[in-house]
Amino acid sequence: MSLLDLAPVVPVVVVDDAETAVPLARALVTGGLPMIEITLRTPAALEAVRRVAAEVPEAVVGAGTVRTPDDVEAAVEAGARFLVSPGTTPALLAALLGSGVLFLPGAATATEAMTLAERGIKEMKFFPAEAAGGVAYLKSLGGPLPDVRFCPTGGVTPRNAPSYLALPNVGCVGGSWLTPADALASGDFGRIEKLAAEAATLRP
Ligand code: 3PG
Repeated sequence: MSLLDLAPVVPVVVVDDAETAVPLARALVTGGLPMIEITLRTPAALEAVRRVAAEVPEAVVGAGTVRTPDDVEAAVEAGARFLVSPGTTPALLAALLGSGVLFLPGAATATEAMTLAERGIKEMKFFPAEAAGGVAYLKSLGGPLPDVRFCPTGGVTPRNAPSYLALPNVGCVGGSWLTPADALASGDFGRIEKLAAEAATLRP
């Protein structure tokens, strides 16, 4: 199974209150986006992963902002079905390879992508997508590295997502625009469902 082909958009979420995680995941799935990447940036993140894994079986829940082997272990223990990292260190890569779940390691240069490809990893996160060079940069990487596919994340919006998704070396994009902090804080899951439904149609 390829993580890049499950959905055109991977919602990248910062969860401050684990109580919101289940209705949030249900809203995303109902809108048409089955994947949810809960970033390990808040004290509530692992509990949020745990609840979604237990209570929303139709969602594919993963952990993002995975930086260390300890993060890998904690996320898998909580029930994460995939792991995403902003960059890739040797220690983190070893832990990801041993995790038993799918993962998208972060890369931002030809050397980083080639280093992962050397280990047999041909699918990765391109981060920070817009700041690192955006669509033009990824298109250029596709010349020498046509067998490597990316999930660009960082500065991706509904406006630029179709240009990324039109590239042959892009499988999906990631972004935080689907889960605005104010919608989460006020429990406006209807708005999140609507944003997900719009995003689900972005693949050209
Ligand atoms: C992240 O890992 O923080 C993602 O890149 C989200 O970036 P965005 O907020 O620009 O969508």
